[in-house]
Amino acid sequence: MKNFFDIIAPIYEIIHFGAEKTFRKIESIAYFKSSDNVLDLGGGTGRISRFLANKVEKIVVVDCSQKMIKGCKKHPGLLCVYAQAEELPFPEQSFSKIIVVDAFHHFQNQKQVVKEIKKVLVNNGQVVIEEFNPVKMFGKLIVIIEKMFCLGSHLHSPASLENLFSMNGFKTRIVNENKSTYYLMAEKSTNSL
Ligand SMILES: C[S@@+](CC[C@H](N)C(=O)[O-])C[C@H]1O[C@@H](n2cnc3c(N)ncnc32)[C@H](O)[C@@H]1O
Repeated sequence: MKNFFDIIAPIYEIIHFGAEKTFRKIESIAYFKSSDNVLDLGGGTGRISRFLANKVEKIVVVDCSQKMIKGCKKHPGLLCVYAQAEELPFPEQSFSKIIVVDAFHHFQNQKQVVKEIKKVLVNNGQVVIEEFNPVKMFGKLIVIIEKMFCLGSHLHSPASLENLFSMNGFKTRIVNENKSTYYLMAEKSTNSL
């Protein structure tokens, strides 16, 4: 369902609560610095990255829903860009950190997105991904709900997502491996260049 996020965009931040808690968790993994250029990929309305506004050098939100991007533009300090994660309109090594919250499983060509992430990250730059664990009860429920809405999403287990990034030369670490929501921290290793 291509326009699903266009439909729910006006109420997205009301129904998807708990943003600050999620942001604090990501912050504890990513250790943002004031010099960071941050990309929030599949960032929607900027629900998460709004907490970073004016705290880092630059924060760019990319999303492929026009309505989500319209919502994003209401948050001061965010640069909101309508684009596909599979084809990022940025030069190589533009960002020191990338976050992907509840979005990676929605990307249709995930292998291509990993390549794009690698392209736009600086050497030793990091990507932090928050995902639902499809092995856990809540993750299984998400799989069923997203199938009902024909979203075409694909959720990875922690090991499978870690493998996708390590195959592409990233150094990886999983946080909260046994919880319903887990985090992948992947660093672009200079050895893989
Ligand atoms: C569940 S929302 C999460 C939004 C935001 N990260 C958050 O946590 O509030 C998933 C987002 O991914 C976006 N998305 C899905 N596929 C995409 C793609 N190929 N390129 C860019 N954005 C995409 C959707 O438009 C949607 O806004």
